[in-house]
Amino acid sequence: MVHKAQLLSIALQAVVIAAVPSSDIQKRCTGTISSISDVTSAVKCTTININAFTVSRQTFNLALLDDTTVNLNGNIAFGNQSWAGPLFQISGNSITFNGNAHTFNGGGPFYWDGQGTNGGTTKPTPMMKIKMSGTFSNTKVVNSPAQVFSVSNPAQLTISGIIIDNSQGDATNSKSNGLPAGHNTDGFDVSTTNLIIENSSVKNQDDCLAINKGSNIIFTGNTCSGGHGISIGSISSNATVSNIQITGNTITNNDQALRIKTDATATGSTVTNITYNGNTGTGLRRYGILIDQSYPSTLGTPGTGVKLSAVNFMGSMNTISVASSATPIALNCGKGACTGTWNWSALKTSGGQPNFKANAPTISGYSL
Ligand SMILES: *[C@@H]1O[C@H](CO)[C@@H](O)[C@H](O)[C@H]1NC(C)=O
Ligand SMILES: *[C@@H]1O[C@H](CO)[C@@H](O)[C@H](O)[C@H]1NC(C)=O
Ligand SMILES: *[C@@H]1O[C@H](CO)[C@@H](O)[C@H](O)[C@H]1NC(C)=O
Ligand SMILES: *[C@@H]1O[C@H](CO)[C@@H](O)[C@H](O)[C@H]1NC(C)=O
Ligand SMILES: *[C@@H]1O[C@H](CO)[C@@H](O)[C@H](O)[C@H]1NC(C)=O
Repeated sequence: MVHKAQLLSIALQAVVIAAVPSSDIQKRCTGTISSISDVTSAVKCTTININAFTVSRQTFNLALLDDTTVNLNGNIAFGNQSWAGPLFQISGNSITFNGNAHTFNGGGPFYWDGQGTNGGTTKPTPMMKIKMSGTFSNTKVVNSPAQVFSVSNPAQLTISGIIIDNSQGDATNSKSNGLPAGHNTDGFDVSTTNLIIENSSVKNQDDCLAINKGSNIIFTGNTCSGGHGISIGSISSNATVSNIQITGNTITNNDQALRIKTDATATGSTVTNITYNGNTGTGLRRYGILIDQSYPSTLGTPGTGVKLSAVNFMGSMNTISVASSATPIALNCGKGACTGTWNWSALKTSGGQPNFKANAPTISGYSL
């Protein structure tokens, strides 16, 4: 027979269990990852601590529950294997990723042959695939095989305090035929909306940032050195790029500082409301600012299928100084494709050759 006290106790337990579903109790756990085999169980928790380890020939894939916090507490290396990648992937909503200044090392010198993703060895790419919203901060990424970050966030994401260092790829090696060994090492490849990238630095051999489509993107307080500068494009058919702010960045010793490139054969695309504010470019090797509708040619016959408007230099001064053999500004628009009045009142350029222009729109505040 069951006593009254026992019945009461059973009833109370039932109330407690009903108030906190067991799945939630489980999610409050802390998962620890010290090898790839720990991932499956750790991602059932909403706090995850990662210790140093090496993962080989598979993606270190964190498919996370909403509101998960991830702490990187050691360095991650990837076994040197020729395969498609990506090396690391993170997805989920409202995620907090704290890199704690630890490093992801892609093992670049093993792969580099001066050809990037155009040929030679198969290279895992991208190195870091970011498909989360929330914040991703304070980590170092060195020696990517080819492209570094690919970002396609499902909602607002801020990426900050990232140090990308592929500078070792500037040197030639035995496989690179006299070319820099690192190639196609884009820092951030972005086709997305509602993204901020700030306070980061990129040393590489290709674009610092490349926006292929998307809107409401802010790139601010970053430094870019050695590569191809901050790029919108290349823009292919049926793509829209709008509401982009490129603010307070420092671009040093790149081929160009600021570039918009659209495919000569593209149709049905729009690039509008691009604001450059308070950027500084020095030691630019080919161009300061290159806006070119003839891609893949440079300053070839421009196409007319991408409408460009409201490309403005506004707010704080943008100061662009190029090498003596370089062109401060080259603006190569298709006939009637660059429209409206562009405000270039916050732009100062110096050094180099005369500017180039074809089919330019009305420009106020700067004499091109
Ligand atoms: C991959 O190779 C590079 C270059 O030889 C080396 O620096 C790196 O430590 C290697 N990575 C691993 C995990 O062995
Ligand atoms: C970026 O740096 C600026 C200036 O130091 C600072 O105000 C801002 O909070 C930083 N952003 C992040 C996300 O840390
Ligand atoms: C662009 O969109 C149009 C209309 O929807 C379509 O006919 C065309 O095939 C698209 N072009 C490309 C390259 O996707
Ligand atoms: C241009 O983009 C900015 C954000 O970058 C936004 O605040 C502004 O409203 C946009 N202007 C137009 C005309 O859409
Ligand atoms: C251009 O932008 C500046 C801000 O940088 C503003 O003061 C000026 O009024 C704008 N010029 C035009 C013609 O809109």
